[in-house]
Amino acid sequence: MAILQRECEILSHEQLSGTTWRIELSAKDIACLVQPGQFIHLRIPEFEEHILRRPFSVFQADSNTHVIRIVYRVVGEGTRRMTELACGDTVDIMGPIGNGWHLPNGARRVLIIGAGVGAAPVYELAKQGQNNGMDVTVVLGAQTHAELVFEKPYLDLGVDVICATDDGSYGFAGFCTDAALEAVDAAKTAGEPFDYCAVCGPYPVMRIAASFCREKGIPCEVSMERRMACGIGACLSCVLDTTDGKKRSCVDGPVFDANEVKW
Ligand SMILES: Cc1cc2nc3c(=O)[nH]c(=O)nc-3n(C[C@H](O)[C@H](O)[C@H](O)COP(=O)(O)OP(=O)(O)OC[C@H]3O[C@@H](n4cnc5c(N)ncnc54)[C@H](O)[C@@H]3O)c2cc1C
Ligand code: FES
Repeated sequence: MAILQRECEILSHEQLSGTTWRIELSAKDIACLVQPGQFIHLRIPEFEEHILRRPFSVFQADSNTHVIRIVYRVVGEGTRRMTELACGDTVDIMGPIGNGWHLPNGARRVLIIGAGVGAAPVYELAKQGQNNGMDVTVVLGAQTHAELVFEKPYLDLGVDVICATDDGSYGFAGFCTDAALEAVDAAKTAGEPFDYCAVCGPYPVMRIAASFCREKGIPCEVSMERRMACGIGACLSCVLDTTDGKKRSCVDGPVFDANEVKW
């Protein structure tokens, strides 16, 4: 599919927690084309010292209103500069990019693990599963209750939501991978095991989830968010080692079969 480049107006921009922001863009045809798990490459305006675009997964896309939303965490100068963008400003984006998730047609019970802002690229997947009549459980992880910013949108979808906080301030006290493993074992005991798992979050979260899914025979996909330069497959800055050789996270991924990744 062609990657489009569009100048998009910012419709709203809101701080969700100390470090997390949500930005809403009028994204024209990109909003109609984007598939769950794909991302956009955004040029930060008036940021000439850093010419490289920054990649962000699409959190929500509405093909009727042509609106997309991204949720981002401030980690460096580019994302800090983004917090200064105002409604009515425009940003140049390229997209949609990447392969997205491969929700199996026949799946009945789906487990989705989203840690931190890793909960963004799995939202449209959860919606797709829910719309297809699948039984969807979403495990959301954050360090603290204040950083757990995705609970409401997922509850509004009507999926089962399990929240985990590292400091125990809300929901399951501990890592989201431990909460997810409990859910996996409970589903198996109930005779309704999960038959697909999607994971996005920090590297250790994906590695641990990939490991227990392999052990328990659950097909698992992960979103490998490497540092990216071109975002279109040309520069090789985003390669990772797989059982099938080196692959580019931007265009061969970012979603990979977890068993294909050399952890
Ligand atoms: C496909 C993809 C989808 C992404 N989706 C989201 C999203 O939905 N929300 C979100 O908040 N972030 C997302 N990211 C990460 C986001 O692109 C980076 O946080 C951002 O580019 C950092 O820019 P910066 O100028 O603020 O930081 P920089 O000054 O460039 O870097 C600051 C710190 O962040 C680290 N960093 C930078 N880029 C990445 C990266 N790609 N992965 C891990 N660490 C990185 C650097 O190593 C450094 O420690 C995604 C990344 C990829 C590759
Ligand atoms: S970012 Fe250039 S090849 Fe992936």
